[in-house]
Amino acid sequence: MSNLTKSTTVYTLNNGVKIPALGLGTWQSEKGKVGDAVRIALQAGYRHIDGAAIYGNEEEVGNGIVESKVPRDEIFLTTKLWNTKHKEVEKALDESLQRLKVDYVDLYLIHWPVAQDPKTEKEYPDWDYLDTYKELQKIYKNTKKIRAIGVSNFTPKQIERLLADKDVDVVPVVNQVEAHPLLQQPELLELLKKNNIRIEAYSPLGSTEGSIRDLEDVKKIANDLGITPAQVLISWNIQRGDVVLPKSVTPERIQSNLLTVELPKEVFDQLNDLEKKHGTNRTNVPPFFDFDAN
Ligand SMILES: NC(=O)c1ccc[n+]([C@@H]2O[C@H](COP(=O)([O-])OP(=O)(O)OC[C@H]3O[C@@H](n4cnc5c(N)ncnc54)[C@H](OP(=O)(O)O)[C@@H]3O)[C@@H](O)[C@H]2O)c1
Repeated sequence: MSNLTKSTTVYTLNNGVKIPALGLGTWQSEKGKVGDAVRIALQAGYRHIDGAAIYGNEEEVGNGIVESKVPRDEIFLTTKLWNTKHKEVEKALDESLQRLKVDYVDLYLIHWPVAQDPKTEKEYPDWDYLDTYKELQKIYKNTKKIRAIGVSNFTPKQIERLLADKDVDVVPVVNQVEAHPLLQQPELLELLKKNNIRIEAYSPLGSTEGSIRDLEDVKKIANDLGITPAQVLISWNIQRGDVVLPKSVTPERIQSNLLTVELPKEVFDQLNDLEKKHGTNRTNVPPFFDFDAN
């Protein structure tokens, strides 16, 4: 049995704000379950919750926070701006704050680098994610509603374009992207490291598809170490320096996903080799975004 302990790793973001390495994901966490999931997670020792307006469950996430009785200032709370709200950032943020029943979020992210007109769902001809980022920057500088700003699903080219803009003087603290042994994104990782931007790894367990946690290699490693496949994967992300956001609404899984180990070097290397062995596998490919074209 490996030496599982409650994850206590905390990173310092490029603006000095501290972030717990492990956070609870809430995408597809149904109403009626997500409030309990958040409460149980916080009571078990999680101090980081990842949400988004588009998940449609912020009210209940907020209830879970209140019911946990964990003080607000001990919790790192993230939410995200949806694609159809890029021209009304502060209004969308205020609505999220209201639903979450908080005065501020610790991290506000642009969910996708795609600014869509809500009427047509087409991308605006006169506005893009750079304009949106400058709005976030303004709110970050001028109000106390956001402790840090970041991006999500940005490709290396989009990160470079953002950093090169003369009006961008707040470097995003994170880029939240899909990251697990079958999607390691070395080019992106290197660029982000160079600029002191942290990866936040989403779908670390392979999301609802389960393709990664069900991989025979991962199951064997888990079996040999006497831990679960999810614990192997979550520990791998933390060991490579990522923030990691496993989602569950199942109490036992919420509890066990918080327990991590330092993986032996040969196991860490074996996980690093899985992409070469099996090829890459991206589970999250929405219709409005082409990862290769950008
Ligand atoms: N920025 C973005 O565009 C973006 C995109 C995707 C995700 N995210 C964030 O990242 C979070 C995580 O990603 P995800 O929700 O796609 O997938 P995930 O965390 O990789 O996987 C979640 C799935 O794994 C199951 N699961 C959880 N723990 C398990 C365990 N110990 N053993 C077996 N199965 C387990 C969950 O089931 P139960 O819930 O039924 O237990 C659920 O079906 C999201 O919730 C969201 O906060 C962000």
